[in-house]
Amino acid sequence: MRIEPRVKGFICTTAHPEGCKAHVKQQIDYMKQQDTTEGPKSVLVIGASSGYGLASRIAAAFSCRAATIGVAFEKAARGSRTATAGWYNCAAFEEFAAAEGLYAKTINGDAFSREIKEQTIELIRRDLGTVDMVVYSLAAPRRTVMSREGAPITYSSVLKTVGQPYTSKSIDLRTNQVTQVTVEPATEEEIDNTVKVMGGEDWQDWIAALDEAGVLADGAVTVAYSYIGPELTFPIYRNGSIGMAKRHLSQTAATMTKEYRDRGLQAYVSVNKALVTQSSSAIPIVPLYISILYKIMKEMDLHEGCAQQMYRLFHDKLYSGEVALDQDGQIRLDDYEMRPEVQERVMKLWENVCDENLQESADIQGYWDDFYALFGFRIQGVDYEADQEADRVIPSLC
Ligand code: NAD
Ligand code: NA
Repeated sequence: MRIEPRVKGFICTTAHPEGCKAHVKQQIDYMKQQDTTEGPKSVLVIGASSGYGLASRIAAAFSCRAATIGVAFEKAARGSRTATAGWYNCAAFEEFAAAEGLYAKTINGDAFSREIKEQTIELIRRDLGTVDMVVYSLAAPRRTVMSREGAPITYSSVLKTVGQPYTSKSIDLRTNQVTQVTVEPATEEEIDNTVKVMGGEDWQDWIAALDEAGVLADGAVTVAYSYIGPELTFPIYRNGSIGMAKRHLSQTAATMTKEYRDRGLQAYVSVNKALVTQSSSAIPIVPLYISILYKIMKEMDLHEGCAQQMYRLFHDKLYSGEVALDQDGQIRLDDYEMRPEVQERVMKLWENVCDENLQESADIQGYWDDFYALFGFRIQGVDYEADQEADRVIPSLC
């Protein structure tokens, strides 16, 4: 069949297998053009099928030549439905890795669950012995945990403020128009639940499970991702419900480094740049900020995508000797985004942006190009007229 994008608000319900493959290849090609990195040898990436997790896996494999195991939660094609983009990305990644003699296997299922942790441990034990790096890059709307009695409890995360409602400019992704949105404050329970889903508890569960099973190498590195951004997004991000979860994530890094001191574990949170991913598109206000940021960063020749960011994380930050941290103990990959000269120009445009000047004030085209690329569409060199087999195998899952 011919596969076309079907966009509904901030999600696309179809994905293009050849387009996803080309998108993965672009990131691999970029990585291979850079100097190699003396880095980890066996890497577990939790949340490996898209965005920052996929780019981390590409950096591990194609800059460090590491063996990788990727955990993701994706769907295969079924009937007239295509597979999810992350599914096609995993299939493509394994294929490219195999072509270069790199070990790559995928575990598809709920990373929050005990079973998936056990399956992963089994696979590490059987194939790799230990892992010397664990990347934790989940972005999930909910998490199910088993109670002591064995009953499932599901927590949902929300993208709301804490305390006061916040009204701001935003972009209506259906019409490309500037709108006003008011984001309501989360209840105490919603905040707690967001911390349960997006905080550090499950990251710590993973490290504990790997350590207890004896599959975590001495001196291993583990990293999870956070975001800070400019003041205009503080109410919805840094000081919002998601920000509370990110604070917990950061505390968890410090706790784990202390707790596993005798094992030499180094746990980090890296604060990354705002980029178009399936997760960031769902946050109110942020897409308009990203479109303006893209315009300015491209003009100043400072723009980076996930692959560029993750290359810098591996090559310049984590594996270049002493790891430079900010006053809160975090790695700052948002250094270019947060430069005063970038932010001043973004703020000036932000204050004046309206429907009439949206196209000049913001890189709307760049936003949508990146958005479509997440699902394998609008990628150069891909023949979208050609008939496609929607069913693709992830070799290691057969
Ligand atoms: P993404 O949506 O592209 O990736 C999320 C990944 O998590 C996918 O691989 C998905 O399969 C996996 N996943 C989700 N639920 C799962 C589950 N239950 N079990 C197993 N896998 C599951 O998101 P992203 O933007 O790359 O986000 C990754 C991390 O980076 C998040 O912590 C996010 O907050 C952070 N971050 C993102 C940005 C940004 O602008 N996108 C900026 C800074 C930090
Ligand atoms: Na990811």
